[in-house]
Amino acid sequence: MIETLKWDPNEERLILLDQTKLPQETIYRPLETLDEVIEAIQALRVRGAPAIGVSAAYGLVITARGINQTDFEGYMAALREKADRLKAARPTAVNLQWAVECIMGRLQQMDLHAVENIPGVILKMAIELHEDDRQRCELMAEQGQSILPPKARVLTHCNTGFLATAGMGTALGVVIRGHERGMIERVYADETRPLLQGARLTAWECQQLGIPCTIICDNMAGALMKQGAVDLVMVGADRIAGDGSAANKVGTYGLAVLARAHRLPFYVVAPFSTFDSRLPSGDLIPIEHRNPEEVLRVMGRCSVAPDQAEAWNPAFDVTPPELITGIITEQGILKPPFDVAIATLAKLQPGI
Ligand code: MRU
Repeated sequence: MIETLKWDPNEERLILLDQTKLPQETIYRPLETLDEVIEAIQALRVRGAPAIGVSAAYGLVITARGINQTDFEGYMAALREKADRLKAARPTAVNLQWAVECIMGRLQQMDLHAVENIPGVILKMAIELHEDDRQRCELMAEQGQSILPPKARVLTHCNTGFLATAGMGTALGVVIRGHERGMIERVYADETRPLLQGARLTAWECQQLGIPCTIICDNMAGALMKQGAVDLVMVGADRIAGDGSAANKVGTYGLAVLARAHRLPFYVVAPFSTFDSRLPSGDLIPIEHRNPEEVLRVMGRCSVAPDQAEAWNPAFDVTPPELITGIITEQGILKPPFDVAIATLAKLQPGI
């Protein structure tokens, strides 16, 4: 499987597969400063909630190496200020804040005095988070097998495979494992306007792995379901509130409504690092709004609207718990009522 991101130990930098260039070009970019990491996250060179979290962890190593302060207090204050900037790069995917806070919280509990040791300590934690995400993906892929009917035809939205995580993926990870076991007949990939993560990235991932995949425009999902061509819908999430509401790429909510109208199961696949039980309701999830130009042009190039046209461009929407059949996690499938299931999970997994 192609690596989405890796740490270069010789040059001490983060190497990212630039997803804005896919599927035409496979270009790896070295990132050596905090500003470059923030730019890569904001421009979606790296995207997908878990992949953003792991990139931010390595971003913190780069940041820590760039701080010149020699006194401990001054160093930690500078690190905290830069960590806050990193956390704010994109607002919706909670994995970004989770990864940065995980590292900053552990640092605070350690008995560190020599500032020169700190970057090495952070690097060790970033490598652990990277491996941790890979393992979470494996576990979710296994857990998800029980909901796949034979010859499953799965409709998905955005991109949730190895490009979006440090492992095999969330929703697409379940499909990939199912395909290895002969359970998948076809993936239907919503193209995912405006930035086409489904057409550009999910279809490309499926091609790499030999999984039959058909791209549809987002507005074709209802017609496809009505024909009886879909067995279930499976998507990822960027943040799941305490009531089970799931923020994911804009268009997910519409798919959930359609799935309910056609009596199809609608599953969300997400690791614990995507849960945010500090927020009791989905209404509290911050939604990123991006440049309207993304709607008015296709991939920044061809204009598809009259000059001066206005556009609305929320990057995510929130699917309410009553439209979700189950949430596939690394330790099992949560079922409604999700507030109870998540509260139980939060007791077992402090920090979610
Ligand atoms: O704006 P993006 O491309 O980062 O949005 C990604 C998604 O919406 C994914 O579905 C989500 O991160 C969960 S799957 C890893």
